[in-house]
Amino acid sequence: MPSPIMRRLRTSAAAAALGVAAVLPLATAVQPAAAAEAKLDNPYAGAKVYVNPDWSAKAAAEPGGSAVANQPTFVWMDRIAAISGSSSAKGLRAHLDTALAQGANLVQIVIYDLPGRDCAALASNGELGATEIGRYKTEYIDPIAAIMSDSKYAGLRIVNVIEPDSLPNLVTNAGGTAGSTDACATMKANGNYEAGVGYALHTLAAIPNVYNYIDAAHHGWLGWDSNMGPAATEFKKAATTGGATVNDVAGFIVNTANYSALTEPYFKVTDSVNGTTVRQSKWVDWNYYVDELSFAQALRTKLVGEGFNSSIGMLIDTSRNGWGGTARPAGAGPLTSVDDYVNGSRVDRRIHAGNWCNQSGAGLGERPTTAPATGIDAYVWAKPPGESDGASQVIPNDEGKGFDRMCDPTYTGNGRNGNSMTGALANSPLAGAWFSAQFQQLLANAYPGLTSSAKTSSSVSLSWTASTDNVGVTGYDVYRGTTLVGSSATTSFTDTGLGLTASTAYSYTVKAKDAAGNVSAASSALSVTTSAGGTTDTQAPV
Ligand code: GLC
Repeated sequence: MPSPIMRRLRTSAAAAALGVAAVLPLATAVQPAAAAEAKLDNPYAGAKVYVNPDWSAKAAAEPGGSAVANQPTFVWMDRIAAISGSSSAKGLRAHLDTALAQGANLVQIVIYDLPGRDCAALASNGELGATEIGRYKTEYIDPIAAIMSDSKYAGLRIVNVIEPDSLPNLVTNAGGTAGSTDACATMKANGNYEAGVGYALHTLAAIPNVYNYIDAAHHGWLGWDSNMGPAATEFKKAATTGGATVNDVAGFIVNTANYSALTEPYFKVTDSVNGTTVRQSKWVDWNYYVDELSFAQALRTKLVGEGFNSSIGMLIDTSRNGWGGTARPAGAGPLTSVDDYVNGSRVDRRIHAGNWCNQSGAGLGERPTTAPATGIDAYVWAKPPGESDGASQVIPNDEGKGFDRMCDPTYTGNGRNGNSMTGALANSPLAGAWFSAQFQQLLANAYPGLTSSAKTSSSVSLSWTASTDNVGVTGYDVYRGTTLVGSSATTSFTDTGLGLTASTAYSYTVKAKDAAGNVSAASSALSVTTSAGGTTDTQAPV
């Protein structure tokens, strides 16, 4: 019965974007489905994500590390031998089995073994030579696909990040630019990056519960229009090579293993100082983006324009882009020049945005979070914090890894980092090896800080706008799903969280009531997702 007191509660598209202030306990177990579900728009929605015990144990062994040791991180299949594992590192099957044992329903894997890997640097050169595309297919991708397609794992959503840095290297480092290398020119000429990515996408996406996200570098790499457009074209080319189609792509990931800030709160790319755009500053260097969130959202739009499905979602690696600690600015810089302003404002404290190896001063970033912003499927920890980006000196090894001077703190740089110092921490081990000193710095400089994330209470705040045609409304009843969770005399309410779980979407409706006990029809649903970071999100008006 419609109540005479109101004809409607105002609802709008903005309601779906309602912010939440949530501080959360760890997610409770979600039972994996017995059989594969239909492909989801966002596999992270409602997921319980696998925590890699191999990484966890190393994190927990560090002083203070237990504050984050239960966070989900990606498992890197960084060589053929990683598939079967070793006495110190689980293989792929063991990870999937352990995920089932944890009651998880989402596992995160990095596919990273292309022929001629890491062509623009040396630190993560791999085991396969530039021409070994056959081995990549038969000894690497096929065995991975055989394991992932085991029906035992059909209830696990398997998220694959596909080949970090490879396609971006073809765009910017394969000829005609200051950063070009012969190795990247070779990979561009022989087509084996595209052939490998296409094969990986198509072979793995054939498994119903697999979701592929292609690596798309970061704003400090592809943020110039002259790079972003060609990158979108390159991604499309690779995604339609060797039988692959755009339907094999669930989305893209940015900032993998990099340090670019998620957001720069104290300056925007549209700012200017005394009539000079900040784009002209040395730090921004004419880039169109100053942070990863704006870059990821713009790139997503570009990719859809290029022909990728409009359902694609972005991931952002926030494992090491927190930039907290005492060096973090508390506000905007001085207006004395664009350089003073930008350098005083920016939370990314790197010497140059092209620096990428074991960056001094970095902190853990946003904790993994589902659907944190428009177009973003999740913030994830793709690079496991504490694993080195590369050795600071020559270390003999049998993985093909080289010594890249970008990991040497005494190196004075090259054309790709503005001939700046590298900002790398000293005494670093081989790429992928545990680097205790770095992990401890990441903990110390975490942003958001670790105290807030460690809170155990949970709550979700919502607000709504009273309809302009309301009459005699004295309050509202608030429902989470079909459960009445409380009432409010105002147009806001905090659900104190009985049964609330981290990183989970909840649907709320409100019904207005009057003094006589009349109750309106339910508003349209307000969908809110609890965050995992313990931060207070901005409320969107509704
Ligand atoms: C680097 C290493 C690789 C490692 C990964 C994650 O790319 O080369 O071996 O698995 O980082 O730490």
